[in-house]
Amino acid sequence: MKALTLNNGNIIPQFGLGTWKSEPGKVKNAVKSALSIGYKHIDCAPIYGNEKEVGEGLTESFQENVVKRENIFITSKLWNNRHHKTDVVTALKRTLQDLQLDYLDLYLIHWPVAFKADVNFPDDASGLLPLSEVPLIETWQGMEQAIDEGLVKNIGVSNFSIKKLEDIIINSRIKPSMNQVECHPYLQQDELLTYCKKNDIALTAYSPLGSKDRPDFVKNENEPILLENEVIEKIAQKHQSTTAQILIQWAIKRGTVVIPKSVSPERIKQNFEAQNINLDTEDMEKIKTLNQNYRYVDGSFFALPNSSYTVENIWA
Ligand code: A2P
Repeated sequence: MKALTLNNGNIIPQFGLGTWKSEPGKVKNAVKSALSIGYKHIDCAPIYGNEKEVGEGLTESFQENVVKRENIFITSKLWNNRHHKTDVVTALKRTLQDLQLDYLDLYLIHWPVAFKADVNFPDDASGLLPLSEVPLIETWQGMEQAIDEGLVKNIGVSNFSIKKLEDIIINSRIKPSMNQVECHPYLQQDELLTYCKKNDIALTAYSPLGSKDRPDFVKNENEPILLENEVIEKIAQKHQSTTAQILIQWAIKRGTVVIPKSVSPERIKQNFEAQNINLDTEDMEKIKTLNQNYRYVDGSFFALPNSSYTVENIWA
């Protein structure tokens, strides 16, 4: 499996299993079947509501000698209601307990958006905390503490713009090693990817298949369906593969990490096999023309009326 070297010398497998939207009851088997066919990287988050089940899948896989802990890479994320510096390590310990692990390979600030401690997902502005009250650099100091305590090997961010990354880089002791963002042919993130490569920050592509199973509040009307794009379909025919496999290989070939989600054993295997496809220059050029800067996960659910957050400033 291809891997990238992070800015502290640690290695991250370029291909992993996403678990956003993977239902408890299905995700344990998804994790087990992924690890049994050779996945080395699982992407998690407490807000996905399934870390306990992911943990059961991991533990059973270790007990059944399918894989050893030190040979796989596990990522999780700090939820928005734990942005105060003193809450970071506590939140991480809870995630470790749920995942039944002693350490994480990578811990990310999930969003550049802060909530009050007792709010899991705000209905209105009263549940949000402005970043002027809990600056991202304060949250980052909590992340650095997690490294100091040996609870995590690498720290990074998610859904961060160049400007927000820059602020962290300038003011931090430990540089972020990862920015996990939505990335696929309709949202190619060229500028951000170039910035990240230049600054030795890896980029993980989430929603690489267009996340068609998103909940309704994260959906817009008349969205383009990535898995049915005609250009991708033609390239898939040429390589006797599926559109999903082309999307996965495109992400790998661009030097990003990619984490397609599936709970279906057949699709988990199909996605794994995408690593064997060889896209040529012509394929990559054709896919390059598909960019429309289209976000499926546009952050509008945090841009609540009368709050300090807008869709523009979340991504700025
Ligand atoms: P399922 O879990 O039933 O396989 P994303 O990774 O962009 O969030 O996309 C996840 C969505 O894509 C889920 O609905 C998932 O369904 C579906 N999916 C995953 N792998 C494939 C595949 N190889 N072909 C078609 N759909 C897929």
